[in-house]
Amino acid sequence: MKDYRLPSEGKMNIYHPPSGATSKAYVSGLKYSNKLEDMNGLEEGLEFLPTMNAKKVEKRGPKRCIAAIAIVLVCLLLSLLAGFLVWHFRYRNAPVQKVYNGHLRLVGRNFIDAYENSNSPEFADLAREVKKMLINIYKNNQDVSPFHKETQIVAFSEGSIIAYYWSEFSVPKHNVEALDRAMANIQASNEAGMKQRGSYEMRVETVVAFPSDPDIIKAKRDNSCSYALHAKEGVVTSFTTPGFPNSAYPSNARCLWVLRADADSVISLTFTTFDLEPCNVGNDFVKVYDTLSPVEAHALVKLCGSYGPSYNLTFVSSTNVLLVMLITDATERYPGFKAEFFQMPKKKNCGADLTAISGTFSSPYYPAHYPPGMDCVWNIVVPTDKRAKVRFNNFFLAEPGIPLNSCPKDYVEVNNVKYCGEKKQFVILSKTNKISVRFHSDLSLVDSGFSAEFMSYQTNDPCPGKFACNTGRCIAKTLRCDGYNDCTDASDEKNCTCTEKQFRCRNGYCKPKLWFCDGMDDCGDGSDEAECKCPANNIRCSNGNCIPESKKCDGKDDCGDGSDEGSCGRVDTVSCKTYTYKCRNNQCLSKKNPECDGNKDCSDNSDEDNCNCGKRFYSKQSRIVGGEDSDEGEWPWQVSFHTKDTGHFCGATLISQNWVVSAAHCFQDDWRRHLDHRTITAYMGLLDQGDRSNSNVQQRGLKRVIRHPYFNDASYDNDIAVAELSSPVEFNKYIQPICLPDVTHDFPVGKSLWVTGWGATQESGNGASILQKLEIRVINQTVCRSLMVPNDVTDRMMCVGVLTGGKDACQGDSGGPLVSLEANNTLFLAGVVSWGEGCAKRNKPGMYTRVSALRAWIKEQTGV
Ligand code: ARG
Repeated sequence: MKDYRLPSEGKMNIYHPPSGATSKAYVSGLKYSNKLEDMNGLEEGLEFLPTMNAKKVEKRGPKRCIAAIAIVLVCLLLSLLAGFLVWHFRYRNAPVQKVYNGHLRLVGRNFIDAYENSNSPEFADLAREVKKMLINIYKNNQDVSPFHKETQIVAFSEGSIIAYYWSEFSVPKHNVEALDRAMANIQASNEAGMKQRGSYEMRVETVVAFPSDPDIIKAKRDNSCSYALHAKEGVVTSFTTPGFPNSAYPSNARCLWVLRADADSVISLTFTTFDLEPCNVGNDFVKVYDTLSPVEAHALVKLCGSYGPSYNLTFVSSTNVLLVMLITDATERYPGFKAEFFQMPKKKNCGADLTAISGTFSSPYYPAHYPPGMDCVWNIVVPTDKRAKVRFNNFFLAEPGIPLNSCPKDYVEVNNVKYCGEKKQFVILSKTNKISVRFHSDLSLVDSGFSAEFMSYQTNDPCPGKFACNTGRCIAKTLRCDGYNDCTDASDEKNCTCTEKQFRCRNGYCKPKLWFCDGMDDCGDGSDEAECKCPANNIRCSNGNCIPESKKCDGKDDCGDGSDEGSCGRVDTVSCKTYTYKCRNNQCLSKKNPECDGNKDCSDNSDEDNCNCGKRFYSKQSRIVGGEDSDEGEWPWQVSFHTKDTGHFCGATLISQNWVVSAAHCFQDDWRRHLDHRTITAYMGLLDQGDRSNSNVQQRGLKRVIRHPYFNDASYDNDIAVAELSSPVEFNKYIQPICLPDVTHDFPVGKSLWVTGWGATQESGNGASILQKLEIRVINQTVCRSLMVPNDVTDRMMCVGVLTGGKDACQGDSGGPLVSLEANNTLFLAGVVSWGEGCAKRNKPGMYTRVSALRAWIKEQTGV
């Protein structure tokens, strides 16, 4: 049975269509009784031929035989007919319940406040009239009228008057399509001259109807949470899910918040806290609509899961209404959300004429999500002796499943090219001193838009003394043809002659010879890795060796590095090797990285023990502004070490309530003298160094520091230490331990890892105030050795970075975490920031202590 939320002459309550109506039973005339007497009667009345008489039957001749066949045939036909009738009445012709949500515009009457209150007599009067008019419209349509069951007017809003309604139909299956078509065109037929005259001067101008989301109406739900709120001038109004923040939101609920503002205003809505069931776990979600009926065509956004506090969750309506709907399922419940809204004057027009040498512009209400249904044009004109260019610094016009080449929904159009999706900074040049930028948003699903700059450049030379990328970016001439894509569109690497230190990829690019067969597709077409392929029926090991395919997963380390036994699909117990994961019961697994991946692989389940680690409280982090600033709770294991004299001097990582891991070199001063651990304070739950008194922060002294006994302060080999906190910390959203990788844990070449810290943001620069995050990749150990002084790189070190330069840890990040997001959304500590040659230099990756190699030592010292 369907279940809709409607007002019944006033307050919202549940509407159940009468049950008889939904499932009319067509009975085919046959009657059965299961009463005992009848059953006996039936048995007595039937005569079966005794098997012993079989011969007699055969001898009775052909006439009887034909009669028997005829009887059988007639019976068959009869039962076919009965079956057809049942099918026809019961299934083919079975009526389907269809519900359409819509709105219509009334002109010829003024809006009064009482229309916002569905309990008022004025509401009831107008609703009655509008309903009559709507039914009249249906009456003129043969595909609609016969099936109409029920219509209700749900709400009114100002402008001049918008009425929101739903209509329910009971329609035979084979008429559904025609009904859908008729309802979709109901506006057209109405506009086409039918302008319905009501009994007064009032008339219907436009009607819109949408089939309703079956997800929303199918399940039976608790509807007791419905609210109507009107923005007050100059005031921010807030609302929350029921019980927030002290108790969870109700299950099986459909909550609605009708938000209204004065005519000629729009609404700005912000979710300040958002914590729902994770999207992949259940079906709880919030939808925001740009109208007062929940129709998909006007949905602005669907939200689920939890968002970090700095995530931009501000939405702007296109008119003076918004509808917020919360749908919850029967399973586990979460705290919910807190939201606030206010009204602001509706912008008369967006876009502008911009005449200057340079300037900025952005999508409407940026950085809030832009409203739907916008069309803005910026006409940019720079001085006549120059040419114009536009640089998009932030660009978010993304919708799931939208083709990025045609941009059929929201887009920015410049020089007749449409742009959509999510983009890194890009530049568009004009061949004249003019350039115009058009922004379009359709009626559903919005994003946070763009911010852009326009500039002018010299006609003859867009990049004086530099190389001009096709993207408009200017880069140093030395970066041309060096094998690195500096322009982001690789225009600096086109039409190059390779030097003797480079090889030519099949696609024409020149790349450093060093990258040949390093396990990464550097050419982009795989040609740098193709020729290092092994002979037929052989596979390539991670260390470059070739072995016969038949030796893969045979339980023997044929590669020499275990890579042929690492991931063998099914999980087997194998004989133990240095590279096989060992369960507590001493059985070894053929599966790579089985720890805390959500599957119980060991027969004693020990691979899933101690997995209360590496989890973030917030499932979604901010994706805009501030480049690499972290969110609160994004890296809850991050620790900051302070001394009174230096302030922050090193990072560390929480591995339990009272132990942290850091770098050994953090505990010596510039003259290699040991630091006294009593002078050190550890801060947990910290985001901003300038806000250490924040209530999320827990501060501890150190009871002791244990440096690795083989730490070499010249080579930085074994650069690891553990420190015990003076007393345990309390875990919460902001403070959590990281997972430690098993000694066999593999972080393969090319894998993305994240490093975090408050270190210098450029070489010999100042430290950051907000915790910074950076995504970098694991670099092949052999390539790394050839880039650094080869003997400097030991097996206890890991090279991670971006060989193009520009992305690296730096002074002050030392001791801090390098983490890897693994199966089951679990984060592992792959490395500890250790050393580097300067910071972020090209071909000089950052060096990290390889935690898996020192795993046993950590366990010995801390028990973790
Ligand atoms: N040793 C430095 C420190 O004490 C960190 C060096 C990291 N450098 C690098 N380029 N990744 O903070």
